[in-house]
Amino acid sequence: MRVDDKFLRDLETKVLSYRERDKDSADRKTFDEVFDRDTLMTLYDLMTNEVIDELDFPIATGKEGNVFRATTHDGGFLAVKIYRMSNATFNNIQKYILGDERFRNIGKSRRRTIHTWAQKEYRNLERMSAVGITVPKAHVCTKNIIIMEFIGQDGTPAPHLKDVELEDPQAVYDKLFDNLKRMYKEVQLVHADFSEYNVLMAGDEPIIIDVGQAVLNTHPMAMEFLKRDLYNLARFFRKHGITCDEKEMLRDIAGGS
Ligand SMILES: Nc1ncnc2c1ncn2[C@@H]1O[C@H](COP(=O)(O)OP(=O)(O)O)[C@@H](O)[C@H]1O
Ligand SMILES: [Mg+2]
Repeated sequence: MRVDDKFLRDLETKVLSYRERDKDSADRKTFDEVFDRDTLMTLYDLMTNEVIDELDFPIATGKEGNVFRATTHDGGFLAVKIYRMSNATFNNIQKYILGDERFRNIGKSRRRTIHTWAQKEYRNLERMSAVGITVPKAHVCTKNIIIMEFIGQDGTPAPHLKDVELEDPQAVYDKLFDNLKRMYKEVQLVHADFSEYNVLMAGDEPIIIDVGQAVLNTHPMAMEFLKRDLYNLARFFRKHGITCDEKEMLRDIAGGS
């Protein structure tokens, strides 16, 4: 598809305006890096296919990518997670790599790896939602971009578990434990990066996010990851007065063997 130059210019202007707002932030460099030309093209496709209408603002800048709020044609919101394709700005790196035989494979495999990673997160979300585990509903995954349900209220992104005052910590603990248990038992997955940073609070409802690294429970490291996830759950909720026996939790999830 021929890319509409005006669209790219408009999107670039917009991106530059986010960047200006973020002037003093250490995130600025990583922010520039997320919008390489391929990513702009993928966003263009998502917009021309009317998956999203507008990219509104960045919600978070992470190590591997950025998450944005987007508006849909019917005025709803979606979250857009964009995995960064490179560690240097598009203009800088492309100049040196494009057309250089030595980098052909590196470039391709890097791209493929990142696309596969995004696919993996998308599929994990689908698999978990299918059995009612509270994660954002997955909408679309194209290349390095995942579109999912926006967790928030009236357009404001939901706070992290670590930042809210819990009215009923036991109820939240029970829900999270039940979710981790069903992840293991019903869809054979271990989150592997579970913490109060990867749980958003939609009112009283904890929503688990960031499931890209989740592994099958047959993975050689699965037990270690599960123990760490449960350790993080117990550590956080003990501070809120909940009694947590990690051994018991592990037994309850991974069974008597
Ligand atoms: N579906 C979503 N709705 C609202 N905010 C989200 C959503 N997904 C992620 N976020 C926000 O973006 C941040 C980064 O997303 P996350 O998936 O945790 O990526 P990473 O930690 O790998 O950068 C989250 O901590 C959260 O603040
Ligand atoms: Mg995270």
